[in-house]
Amino acid sequence: MQELFEHLIWEVEGNIALLTINRPEVLNALNADVLKELDLWSTKIRSELEQSNNPIRCIILQGSGAKAFVAGADIKEFKGKVKIEAQSISSRGQRIFKQIEQLPVPTVALIEGYALGGGAELAIACDFRLAAPNAIIGFPEVKLGLIPGFGGTVRLPQLIGYAKAMEWMTTAKTVSAYQGIDVGIFNAILDNENEDILDQAKKWIAPLCSMAPLAVKSIIFAMKSQQSLYTPELFEKEVELFAKLFETYDFEEGVNAFIEKRKPEFQNK
Ligand code: COA
Repeated sequence: MQELFEHLIWEVEGNIALLTINRPEVLNALNADVLKELDLWSTKIRSELEQSNNPIRCIILQGSGAKAFVAGADIKEFKGKVKIEAQSISSRGQRIFKQIEQLPVPTVALIEGYALGGGAELAIACDFRLAAPNAIIGFPEVKLGLIPGFGGTVRLPQLIGYAKAMEWMTTAKTVSAYQGIDVGIFNAILDNENEDILDQAKKWIAPLCSMAPLAVKSIIFAMKSQQSLYTPELFEKEVELFAKLFETYDFEEGVNAFIEKRKPEFQNK
């Protein structure tokens, strides 16, 4: 499968597989090419995992380098986009993250450094999140005049509760590994001082890999059927609101300010 990808690194070692998003020069930001590859990867791996002789019991997703898991959707690609294009970006991102969420083996986001915006949305579409001590997670889209568009407004309140989700998303609050563990967004904080972080992550998931695979799968399916709580209308509303903001001055200002490395001056229009 690796030969299909330019920005993803796919490795299988025994019963653990590792997917690395590899654009470290832009903190692994999700541009259209990475999303296309994630789409292809999640489709192909799903069909492979459905074969009974497949050895993979767990998939770890990580970003390349210690500075970021994923620093969000690629903001520079947003520049100049109009509402209809934004609708398609959001629907496509949602669909790909749902594919990842519905994989039939547990997925673990291993977060070193920034998991922001689309990166945080990818992390919360996984089953578990392990944080390095330098992990920072949050939803800063509002600073760009935007909202999360890859399912974040739907999944975050389910995970950390309505009030905290509202606070995080409306204030662009980012939290550390230690704050994140208090609200339950992280399962564990790993120690990367004395041991390689990936080795630590593998140790953390080892008990899960030794359980009866069909039972683990059944727990996942049983628990994920609770996600019918996420009605399609919630996702559609997110797409609609995300896309509408692409028609605003404040979105244009937010994106320009990021690119020009300055503070945005919003005008409520
Ligand atoms: N999209 C596109 N490029 C991004 C990016 C993103 N989401 N996040 C980081 N980058 C790029 C930067 O533009 C920079 O590129 P440059 O060297 O060509 O200027 C490079 O990655 C390194 O980032 P930089 O901002 O210089 O690092 P930093 O340590 O000063 O700040 C962050 C790190 C994560 C705080 C900052 O990059 C940031 O705020 N990123 C955007 C986060 C965000 O809003 N995500 C939600 C998007 S919807």
